[in-house]
Amino acid sequence: MFQNQQPLAADSPLPGVSRCLDSTHFVTTILHQFAESLGNAIDAKDQHTSMHSDEVAQISHAIALTMGLTPREADIIHVAGHLHDIGKIGVPDEVLRKEGPLNTQQWQAIRKHPQAGADILCPVAALKKLGVVDMVLHHHERYDGKGYPCGLKGCAIPLGARIITLADSLSAMLQDRPYRKARTFESACKEIIHCSGSQFDPRVVEAFRKSADTIKTIIEILSSSEEAA
Ligand SMILES: [Fe+2]
Ligand SMILES: [Fe+2]
Repeated sequence: MFQNQQPLAADSPLPGVSRCLDSTHFVTTILHQFAESLGNAIDAKDQHTSMHSDEVAQISHAIALTMGLTPREADIIHVAGHLHDIGKIGVPDEVLRKEGPLNTQQWQAIRKHPQAGADILCPVAALKKLGVVDMVLHHHERYDGKGYPCGLKGCAIPLGARIITLADSLSAMLQDRPYRKARTFESACKEIIHCSGSQFDPRVVEAFRKSADTIKTIIEILSSSEEAA
């Protein structure tokens, strides 16, 4: 994950945005801290999703590296993972916290959050240029084209979004909900493999399979830090 997190030197002038974007340091420090902070804020809205954004960020990072993406590309996807649900800030708390099935109107409110998230992040030029805004916008697309908000299919969906979709689903399956118990990691793995080619990109599923041990360890470390908090 982010091992290169030295703060900016005290005498270091903040470079202009375009120079910043070429800097791995910028992605791994300032942008990451900003994203983690906002992700924590959105997770705090729902008691059932504590550490969800952090989990999605870290799982996505592990999958990206296993797929052969560069460390910088994996870091950018990690940032998008922290921010993926930021649009839920506009979803009423009574919908997010509802203990039971949602009605049509409530589902419509939920389905707006990818576009709302993209709208919130769009003014940050760095996030737009690095592709983070598009990853957030498309994190509920499905590989078979049956997702939302645009119904994009296959490789038309940004790769980072295809990775975050899987990480998001895994994290959600491992959480208790008022209307269902959490799955075990092994049961969630089976479900993800079952959905290869429909909900998920088969290449992302394959990378998930290869990195499953690492991902299981990431989840265990996060849940033990949550219990200790
Ligand atoms: Fe992070
Ligand atoms: Fe979402």
